[in-house]
Amino acid sequence: MTAGKRAVAVLISGRGSNLRALIDAAAADDYPARIALVLSNKPEAEGLEIARAAGIATLVIPSKGKDRAEFDAEMDAALKANGIELLCLAGFMRLLTTEFVQAWYGRMINIHPSLLPAFKGTDVHARVVASGVRFTGCSVHFVSPEMDEGPIIAQPEATAEAVAAAVLEQEHVLYPQALRLLAEGRLSIEGQRVRVKA
Ligand code: GAR
Repeated sequence: MTAGKRAVAVLISGRGSNLRALIDAAAADDYPARIALVLSNKPEAEGLEIARAAGIATLVIPSKGKDRAEFDAEMDAALKANGIELLCLAGFMRLLTTEFVQAWYGRMINIHPSLLPAFKGTDVHARVVASGVRFTGCSVHFVSPEMDEGPIIAQPEATAEAVAAAVLEQEHVLYPQALRLLAEGRLSIEGQRVRVKA
């Protein structure tokens, strides 16, 4: 049943795994939103196939060669024509104009792959690793005119259970690797350091 559900457009540029998660969640009868439209600025976005397979209307508005104002106005008109009430950016890799953001403020959310306010922008995971931080996560936030700056709605809770599960997954990769090195005779102990022979 769709009566009473908010009409949502998901904006994508690529793979669409977050789109898939939203589609799956919205399939439940008691979910308060329905994915009414998937809009991509890239014709080749894989997420379009996910939408089509789920029977969801898709729309491609190519952004290439268009200036921001022109592209955003086209998108805004299409969203209105489709009766869209809420927007989810899900890997939508295009900066929006202040006009567009203000028009949708409070009705447009984004997912970003870091614990904001840390690691705004692109190339997030490489910068996380290079920085040496040992813990990262994701954030869902309202979109505001400054990139990745809007009020945060949700971040994963660092519960002891969640940390334990993440660490255990690493244990199961590292321990067999270490035993392999030991069994191959490639480890030598030098004081408090262990040297691994090539
Ligand atoms: C996701 O990791 C999302 O957090 C990120 O792009 C990826 C899209 O993957 N978004 C941003 O970096 C936004 N600045 P998906 O297409 O499989 O959902």
